[in-house]
Amino acid sequence: MSVPSAAINPSVCQDSSENLPVLGRDVLVPLVTGGEVTYAALDYAASAPALQRVWDDVAAYAPYYGSVHRGAGYLSQLSTDLFENSRTTVAEFLGCRQDDQVVFTRSTTDSLNLLAAVVPDGCEVFVFETEHHASLLPWRDAAVTYLNAPRTPQQAVETLDRALAARTTPDAPALVCVTGASNVTGELWPVRELAAAAHAHGARIVLDAAQLAPHHPVDIAELDVDWVAFSGHKLYAPFGSGVLAGRSDWLLAAEPYLAGGGASRTVARRADGGVDVEWHTTAARHEAGSPNVIGVHSIASACRALTDAGFDSLVAREQTLVRKVLDGLAEVEAVQVLSLFGDDAPRVGVISFVVDGWNSSHFAAALSAEYGIGVRDGLFCAHPLVRTLLGSDPQDQGECGAPEGEPGERSLNAVRVSFGAGTPDEHVERFVGAVKELVRDGARWNYRTEDGRCVPAV
Ligand SMILES: Cc1ncc(COP(=O)(O)O)c(C=O)c1O
Repeated sequence: MSVPSAAINPSVCQDSSENLPVLGRDVLVPLVTGGEVTYAALDYAASAPALQRVWDDVAAYAPYYGSVHRGAGYLSQLSTDLFENSRTTVAEFLGCRQDDQVVFTRSTTDSLNLLAAVVPDGCEVFVFETEHHASLLPWRDAAVTYLNAPRTPQQAVETLDRALAARTTPDAPALVCVTGASNVTGELWPVRELAAAAHAHGARIVLDAAQLAPHHPVDIAELDVDWVAFSGHKLYAPFGSGVLAGRSDWLLAAEPYLAGGGASRTVARRADGGVDVEWHTTAARHEAGSPNVIGVHSIASACRALTDAGFDSLVAREQTLVRKVLDGLAEVEAVQVLSLFGDDAPRVGVISFVVDGWNSSHFAAALSAEYGIGVRDGLFCAHPLVRTLLGSDPQDQGECGAPEGEPGERSLNAVRVSFGAGTPDEHVERFVGAVKELVRDGARWNYRTEDGRCVPAV
């Protein structure tokens, strides 16, 4: 059974950024200084715009929407097929091995919390302090070793190797959690080498691909990682779903992440009054409740669209934008780009920076209000990493993403610009021009702090 799949009409492709068109390119936003401009969405690292093709595929399916795994009707069966076929599509997209499971979740955060819930008793977890909080924090019941920030990829591998070698219980299960691309610096981590180091010590490794998968091919078997986690909304599929894919043994040996219908195969009353439950021994074990079929369908659609467009051309185009931004920022003396591995380290389209004499929240507010450019400012849910990069005192910082200080004060936070498929040249050119103009001429408007955020004083 199948629903019509929307195909991109090649005639709408006008320039290379439209290889994979995204929604929202024509949205007009008001400027405080008067008039309107098209919105420049340069916050892909938080949530990327939807691909036009994803939107079209979801719209094409919507009339056929039905319950999944729980209906005799035609549309229920069609929706179930669509849901299970999406699993196959994601498995192919990730290069999964024969025995791997693809579990649909809500997000990367949900995926990593699911994995944390199934690690065997006594498992030791190793995480670099530079990770996003979604990788840093879920391991509450495990013994966690936080590894210091490495300053080169090689140092990362050596640090992990040393830490694993120093384990006092080398036979106990161990898990390494590492990001593929930093959500702060965009820098690529040496995943294959870290996986080899983990496996050499009998440990397993999960790849947080939230920022990698939208920009680069991710192949589980080729990278030799045990699990991969990513989010739909960063992969141009903003319908509330995510993925945890990888080894089945820990997943299927553990109690379900959520207990309920869908995860259970049979439930029977016992003579003593309780209930006996037989749980599924497939991914369904961790997908209790009615699944988000639209979200799952949208992820599969995005996987197909990225594969069809070809990562080679997507990466090549994105790298020209990265170069444009880095070269433009390098011309502004007051701007310092944040980097862990050095200026020449390979990175995806995620770049954070601070500007001398500017509070980052003020800078980001001016980019939005005066130029129609959407970036993010703050600590990007990676507090330890940003503090390390800024050399700032942990006590100075507020909540995740909350800016501090008044307009004009030196910033303890950073500004992040991020982009990817469908980003037109004009957006990054406008951004670089705006940075230069703001640094040279200052803001043209007054700003004030409201609920911890810098906003135009209108
Ligand atoms: C590297 C990284 N990991 C995990 C996450 C969490 O993703 P989500 O908010 O979709 O759960 C993010 C979100 O920004 C991220 O950048």
